[in-house]
Amino acid sequence: MLDAPLNDTVIQIPPAPPERRGFALGRNIKQKGVMGFFTELAEQEGSFASLKRGRRNSVVFNDATAIDYVFKAGNSKGPIVEFLRPVAGLGVFLETNLPAWGRMRHYAQPFFTPKSFDRAGVINQMVLASNEMLERWQEYAPKGRMAHLDKEFPSLAFSILLRGLFNETDVGIASEMKSGIDLIFQKAGERIWKPIKVPASWVYAAVPKYRRARRTLFKAAKQFIDRRREALKDPNFEHKNDLLSQMIGHYGLSRTEQRRLVHEVITYLIAGYETTGQALTFASILLSQNPDAQRKIAAEADRVFEGRLPVPEDVRKLTETGRIVKEALRLVPPVPILRREAMKDLEIPLDDGRKVFVPQGTIVSMSPWAVHRLPQYWGNDPEKFNPDHFSREATANRHKSAFFPFALGERKCIGGPFAETEMTVVLALVASRFEFTIPDAASIKPEFSVLLHPDKPVLAELKPRNTVESRL
Ligand code: HEM
Repeated sequence: MLDAPLNDTVIQIPPAPPERRGFALGRNIKQKGVMGFFTELAEQEGSFASLKRGRRNSVVFNDATAIDYVFKAGNSKGPIVEFLRPVAGLGVFLETNLPAWGRMRHYAQPFFTPKSFDRAGVINQMVLASNEMLERWQEYAPKGRMAHLDKEFPSLAFSILLRGLFNETDVGIASEMKSGIDLIFQKAGERIWKPIKVPASWVYAAVPKYRRARRTLFKAAKQFIDRRREALKDPNFEHKNDLLSQMIGHYGLSRTEQRRLVHEVITYLIAGYETTGQALTFASILLSQNPDAQRKIAAEADRVFEGRLPVPEDVRKLTETGRIVKEALRLVPPVPILRREAMKDLEIPLDDGRKVFVPQGTIVSMSPWAVHRLPQYWGNDPEKFNPDHFSREATANRHKSAFFPFALGERKCIGGPFAETEMTVVLALVASRFEFTIPDAASIKPEFSVLLHPDKPVLAELKPRNTVESRL
């Protein structure tokens, strides 16, 4: 318990009202949709609101000071997507044992910096993979064929991860792994709202397609690792600085260490692929609805790339595109709800100076979707796509924790810089080669299932701009 008694500036959370408990809560969320529910809660209840799902008390914060505190106070990750545990439970994303997690994070963190991306040729890989996709699109355009963005971008993101983190380009293995991850994600999404579930390990053991998917992922990850161990024996091996080489250098040869390494390889694919792929899809929908922003990206790319394929220094000059990427992540954060579990009793501060008492064991939810739309942080028209939200001045005048698509604190997304760089490179290259329109843009809605997905196919009409020669 807390040392100091509660004083009158510390608010006790009231019990959840009947419509935010148990089955009624489930019905409410189903009716309004997950994002609708959280947005309405923020509008109606302000800084915080209580829920009760199952036996656990839960509180939702819509207040940047509180969110900052919860993420940075070192609280536990809270309930995780349990169906992913049998394939990636020992990796840095799902690991709940703090010393084990800290060690993995420490090994991987140095890779995720711009300097390290340069050393490992990450941006080059992003450019090459994007260019391959765009060469294909070039053939679509004269035939009037549309680009299926919600399939193209996740595939591209997968290929960029394999190349950028592991220098792997085997298309066959990539497609098998991707199908396995898709299958597992789909099942994970179906299970999220089930109050009673058969344990995940039983499902993998009993249902052949999940067993096969898991085996495929393990086999491929192990193959990458074994191949790399062999390659690293050559002192002149060129990919010593990628994430795979860096990780291999830190893990021992015991069975446990090797299992962890396999889970780590799978973790990075699971964590980085659909998130970035669908973020690109939603950014493209916004760019189709905001052709001025699309033209700005194209103009910036023309100016910086000067008709050649970009090099890393070019990408750092794409500041306008960078702001547009952030604005897309504000309006459609791929992970729209994040949770933590209070490790001890907490007094959580609010923007207005009051504090909220949160007992140990409470689940704390925070929705970037809802908070990224609050007028107190984003002005009177928060639904409007406006990259000026990320001008230097606007950023300096806003609470720094009102924007958290990658979470905050020590368990924030390690791949945030990778994802933002990738989105910037891909959108700049796409806009420099094509003007694109998504005829159905206005009717496509994000749907929640582990992550946000478009609720229908996202098909883009492509018009080549012909201002850029693609030269390798
Ligand atoms: C737009 C794309 C992305 C978004 C929106 C995103 C979002 C997030 C969020 C919100 C978390 C924290 C989850 C939680 O605490 O419950 C997270 C964690 C993580 N992300 Fe990302 N992510 C993206 C791309 C990537 C990429 C490209 C990679 C890998 C290259 C990656 C690797 C990870 C890992 C390993 C973690 C776990 C970190 C830890 O627990 O220490 N993510 N991501």
